[in-house]
Amino acid sequence: CGIVGYIGRRDAAPLLLEGLQRLEYRGYDSAGIALGAQSGKGGKGAKSGALRTAKAVGRVRDLEARLPKRFAGTTGIAHSRWATHGAPNDENAHPHLDGEGKVAVVHNGIIDNASELRAKLLADGVEFRSETDTEVLAHLIGRDPSETLEEKVRGALRMIDGTYGIAVLHAGFPDRIVAARNGSPVVLGIGEKEMFVSSDVAALVSHTRQVVTLDDGEMATLKADDYRTYTTEGSRTSASPTTVEWEVESYDMGGHDTYMHKEISEQADAVDRVLRGRIDDRFSTVHLGGLNLDAREARAVRRVKILGCGSAYHAGQIGAQMIEELARVPADAEPASEFRYRNAVVDPDTLYIAVSQSGETYDTLAAVQELKRKGARVLGVVNVVGSAIARETDGGVYVHAGPEVCVVSTKCFTNTAVAFALLALHLGRIRDLSVADGKRIIAGLRRLPEQIAGILRDEERIAELAGEYANAKSMMFVGRVRGFPVAREASLKLKEVSYVHAEAYPASELKHGPLALIEPAVPTVAVVPDDDLLEKNRATLEEIKARSGRILAVAHREQEKADHTIVVPKNEDELDPVLMGIPLQLLAYHSALALGRDIDKPRNLAKSVTVE
Ligand code: G6P
Repeated sequence: CGIVGYIGRRDAAPLLLEGLQRLEYRGYDSAGIALGAQSGKGGKGAKSGALRTAKAVGRVRDLEARLPKRFAGTTGIAHSRWATHGAPNDENAHPHLDGEGKVAVVHNGIIDNASELRAKLLADGVEFRSETDTEVLAHLIGRDPSETLEEKVRGALRMIDGTYGIAVLHAGFPDRIVAARNGSPVVLGIGEKEMFVSSDVAALVSHTRQVVTLDDGEMATLKADDYRTYTTEGSRTSASPTTVEWEVESYDMGGHDTYMHKEISEQADAVDRVLRGRIDDRFSTVHLGGLNLDAREARAVRRVKILGCGSAYHAGQIGAQMIEELARVPADAEPASEFRYRNAVVDPDTLYIAVSQSGETYDTLAAVQELKRKGARVLGVVNVVGSAIARETDGGVYVHAGPEVCVVSTKCFTNTAVAFALLALHLGRIRDLSVADGKRIIAGLRRLPEQIAGILRDEERIAELAGEYANAKSMMFVGRVRGFPVAREASLKLKEVSYVHAEAYPASELKHGPLALIEPAVPTVAVVPDDDLLEKNRATLEEIKARSGRILAVAHREQEKADHTIVVPKNEDELDPVLMGIPLQLLAYHSALALGRDIDKPRNLAKSVTVE
């Protein structure tokens, strides 16, 4: 979900709408704005001393269409919502107000004891307008007897258990916005005589690149001319702004019709960025400055455990194989969401790695926190610099994919796989990977951008193929060993963006069950690299063909048994997975296009799931 707030001298509503638009990718079933009281001036139609709100189910543009004629003011907060508590309707859309309409709150996260608090408030005669946990917070702030807004918010936060990123307006304190964070991101944007607050820098960068990221347990007061941060207990914290590196333009669509297409097309440059400055030809290894793991520590690692969700998890599976192959350390990947609930054995000789594009996925963050509590060493492979996971881990590798806006991950997935190749090479060269192998992998890494550009030039053909396969009842994706995570990610991509049912299976397991599904209406996408398993994979194609299944192969040369082959350039065996996934991103994209889907914002999904 997205939070945006503004306080300054300009008209707030258009700025808030623009901010919401930039955050729409994070959640989008309803949206709303609250404007602050107009201290003194009281513009036409605005009662001095009262907050004004507008809400709408649907997209930001639906909210825009619904704004009252005169909806002016220089202070406001806004929200786009992805429902957790309560259905998406006008009542449940944020901002939520207290009983008197003096307090407005926008909130990301979940209040665990909301129903208890609600029951108490109801018993006190409070009337609720919505089913949300956030409204509880608005009432608590409104009823707090403290003198200042900061104390009122603090008083309310003391009563709740759960996670939050909030921004609060109060009609009695028209000169400020108060924000607080616990488990859900809050970033302040520091401007010239104006301040912004958001859950994501994406909403701020067109106005200011100076940002302050709140820590968990931190609060902030924003006034037009100044800001301060302090702990929820009230002691001041130092918060000097940092500069956002990403260019404003990198958040725009840059001539493409969708962010997904833009982000797929950017991958040659993105991979170039993750490699830049990190290759050390003298020793045939790589420099990873942020790793914080010296050679002795790296040698002492007995296992590697990689945790992530969704595409990050799949990139982690590719990473685990690279680490096993190049560093010969046992490695595996597991969904962070599963790991954190199964009371896993935390082993001191294991290196844990959390993978996340946003660095804010709650399940992954919670896994990191649990691991740290148990004394483990945790590294991060993260895209968003300064994000929660990046800060909570002991060190790590930034993926440098640039901002990824489309809900489904493409360039970040690819860059994460390359970041893992760097990490695997680094660990390998400290242990017993030879100079020659180091050289071989480095040469392979350097070939990637050009090879990616080559694959992308094949888009027209892939689009035609997508047209042929888009009407499938269901699709099977198969791969073996290195090809399997590629198949899984491709299957996820197709499901997410085109809503075509897809299933990924290890090619070797096909005969143990899923072969029963094969028929002409259920085509198979087979990932067939030219490696030592080529013959095995060919046998799988035969098995499928014998059951009159249609086959689309992604391979390094034409596959006779396949109905169609997308030929991709060969790299080193260990790096092949990086390239083989790319045409399948295009396949998912063009299938979704053929089916008329909402590509950047698939139904029911959000870019970052910052709740449990
Ligand atoms: C959500 C998105 C997925 C993404 C996953 C992990 O479910 O819809 O596309 O892969 O979160 O996100 P992260 O930011 O941690 O990589």
